[in-house]
Formats: sequence, structure tokens, C-alpha cells
Amino acid sequence: MRSDARTAREPGSPAERASGLDLRGWFSDAEGAWYRAQASAALARDARCTLVEVGCWRGRSTSFLAPILRGGPRRLLCVDHWAGSSDPWSDAYLAVEAAEGQGSVRAAFERNMALLQVPHRLLELPSVAAAERVADASCGLVFLDASHDGDAVAADLRAWWPKVQPGGVLAGHDYEPAKHAGLVRAVSEFAAAHGLRVDRGPEAPRCWALTRR
Ligand SMILES: C[S@@+](CC[C@H](N)C(=O)[O-])C[C@H]1O[C@@H](n2cnc3c(N)ncnc32)[C@H](O)[C@@H]1O
Repeated sequence: MRSDARTAREPGSPAERASGLDLRGWFSDAEGAWYRAQASAALARDARCTLVEVGCWRGRSTSFLAPILRGGPRRLLCVDHWAGSSDPWSDAYLAVEAAEGQGSVRAAFERNMALLQVPHRLLELPSVAAAERVADASCGLVFLDASHDGDAVAADLRAWWPKVQPGGVLAGHDYEPAKHAGLVRAVSEFAAAHGLRVDRGPEAPRCWALTRR
């Protein structure tokens, strides 16, 4: 597992486990609230926009969107290839699958989404290939939490930025200079090249956001 003991979430309460939910992941409640607020704002701007989450794992981050999406149309597009990553955490991801069984993490994601009744579509593809299937300027929010190395983040930024509609937001997780220097550099350089400000969640400073004008 990714060595992120400060934020990795242990298996939930007995009641949660009994329900079949398995929301182990890396999102804090404050980050979830920030993410949900970003998604709500995107839908308030354009109720027909697409929301995209890239890098879902078992669906912990995704789960925070359940209250605003449940019962509605499938506005959320989830992207993950569940095939490791290009950053130093790849072996840890693959070790979980080796220990729990091939396909177990994807299965947990789908079970969690079903239990939480999160309407969504899934593209089980590498991030950049998935972006090619999405119409330009169709997304109110794209949230990146896939590979965290600088090259991958730069590629994700290039691929997903054109998909964001005017007024929409390209955001992501793990803006931590000491721990994810490549990610922070890629986001900062992209922002500078496009004349953008990098916003951070006030209560969730690891979350970053770029707003498209
Ligand atoms: C840090 S985990 C996501 C954590 C999740 N958001 C949570 O809250 O628990 C990273 C995920 O990104 C996926 N991933 C990494 N690189 C990817 C890529 N290039 N394309 C698609 N998925 C990728 C991995 O399979 C993994 O599930």
C-alpha cells in the first residue's frame, strides 16, 4: 500500500464493513467535502456537464459525491486502469491486487458504487486514452488522482485541460511539495504557462484547482 499512513484510511466501522462497503483510500473527510463542493458548483453552473474522476482505486474519493449524484443521471465518468501506475507506488498497488486477487480492487470499486448508488460511467483505460473519448469543453470538473510522477501529471494536464468547459475546473489531489515534488512542479508549470492561479482547498490544502476562463 502507498506509504501514506497519515491519510490512508483503515477499514471502516463494523457497521460499514457489515454493509459490504470497503472505502480504504487516501481521502480525508475535509478533502471529500471540498471535492463534493467543487462538483456541486460545477453542476450549478451547468446541470448537463460531465464530471470526471481519474484515479478511483476502491472509490473512496468517489464516495463523497454520492449525496449529490444519487438518483440523478450519469454525469460522473470514472477513469482507472487498475494496472499499477508510473510513479513509485505502482508496486504497492500491484501488491494489493496480488494479495487480494486479480481484479479485486476494481470489484471493490464497483461494489462500493452499487451500495452507495452512485450513478456513473466507467472507462477502464489509461488516463490519456480515456481523455481522447471525451468531447472538448464538456466537463465542469475533472479531478486527477492517478499517477503522481511529474511526467504523468503533465500528460494528464495536457490531455484533460481541453475537456474542461469555460468556467469549469481541473483539479486534483496530493499537492505536497515535500512528498510529490514532480506533481507540484507539473501543476505549477502548467498554471504558469497558461497564466492561471493554483487554488488550494482552505481546509484541504492537498487539493489543487485551476479554473478555465
Ligand atoms: C492514489 S490511487 C487513487 C485513490 C482514490 N482517488 C482514493 O480516494 O482512494 C491512484 C489510482 O490511479 C490509477 N492510475 C494510475 N495511473 C493511471 C493512469 N495513467 N490511467 C488510469 N488510472 C491510473 C491506479 O490504478 C489507482 O487506482
